[in-house]
Amino acid sequence: MITVTVPMKKSAEKYRVECRKHAFSALKHAIGGRRALLFTDSNVLALYGRAIHRALPGVPVYAMEAGEEHKTPQTLFALLQEMAGAGLNRASVLAVLGGGVVGDVGGLAASLYMRGIPCIQVPTTLLAQVDSAVGGKTAVDFCGVKNLVGAFWRPEKVIADPAFFATLPPRELRCGLGEIVKHGALDAALFARLTAQDDLFDLAFLAEIVPQNIAFKASVVAQDPFEKGLRKCLNLGHTTAHAFELSSGLSHGECVLWGILFESAFARSLPGADGEFLDRLEALARRALGGGEVPGVSGLRAALLDKKNTKADEVTLTLPLAPGKYALSQLPFAEYEAGLRAARERLC
Ligand code: NAD
Ligand code: GLY
Repeated sequence: MITVTVPMKKSAEKYRVECRKHAFSALKHAIGGRRALLFTDSNVLALYGRAIHRALPGVPVYAMEAGEEHKTPQTLFALLQEMAGAGLNRASVLAVLGGGVVGDVGGLAASLYMRGIPCIQVPTTLLAQVDSAVGGKTAVDFCGVKNLVGAFWRPEKVIADPAFFATLPPRELRCGLGEIVKHGALDAALFARLTAQDDLFDLAFLAEIVPQNIAFKASVVAQDPFEKGLRKCLNLGHTTAHAFELSSGLSHGECVLWGILFESAFARSLPGADGEFLDRLEALARRALGGGEVPGVSGLRAALLDKKNTKADEVTLTLPLAPGKYALSQLPFAEYEAGLRAARERLC
């Protein structure tokens, strides 16, 4: 078992991320004698329902419909209703088993219920293990904007078991690689490891690099838990990714890979940009994508609604520059749109 501790700069609080086998017995142990409700989604329940009931007899289970389109206030309030129905109180715990969608909705419900109760995150996708379960961001989509309504709410514990990868379709591994490639763009040691690896989809390789990804993200979050400065680096590729996600029907992680490819084009003209590094980053993102049609850019006005923006008609981008280096950039929308069209021609 590998344990990463996520310390918090501005408080004495910290929590543990355990990278380990036997997630269900670890979860049972973490819940202890407390009243609990387990929140998951329909796909995870179909795959792991028996294991859940075997490990946690008597613990009520609530499953949302799987999918980003259900990451809504309606799902959030349905979960809160189940939590109330199960009689949870401040001494209780919400166990959250699933990918980033379940993690974001479950974390937000835990932050709201009785003004906040503990939650334990058991991420079951590669993306959730390397990224979304760590760092305390929770949210639902609202009014056509990704993650518009949310809160920072730290989990009590995260249990990341690579055994869950065995049931993930290749597309979901690709989604996880989206955030892993993003971390690689920001961390020179991880970038070297990724570019040296032939088969990015090899499960043993992925299990091995999960702790490195968590440790990288934890180090960023520990220094800037509420995204006032440094943590903005983790938005690399994400402004365009979020707009693609709403316009293309692709999944979050796939859109992050496309976001990295499109936004790298903007980086090339910045002072300090390392062209050779950007070529290698693009090659890595393309290997992770494994082909696929280049998304169209006509519906990307949604990028203007991104919460990272601070001025009307301007978009904010976190751009890769050189190994371990990034730049924050604000662009008028017209310039951004023209840049996306040029980038698309180059990528096609
Ligand atoms: P997801 O939760 O939709 O999971 C992807 C699919 O895999 C779903 O159909 C799910 O049912 C299924 N699944 C989950 N575990 C499985 C398993 N072990 N075997 C087989 N199928 C399984 O999506 P995701 O890619 O995990 O997460 C994307 C979401 O995470 C987005 O909403 C994104 O905004 C959010 N996110 C949040 C943060 C954060 O910091 N909070 C960071 C990155 C992404
Ligand atoms: N996924 C970006 C962050 O947690 O800040």
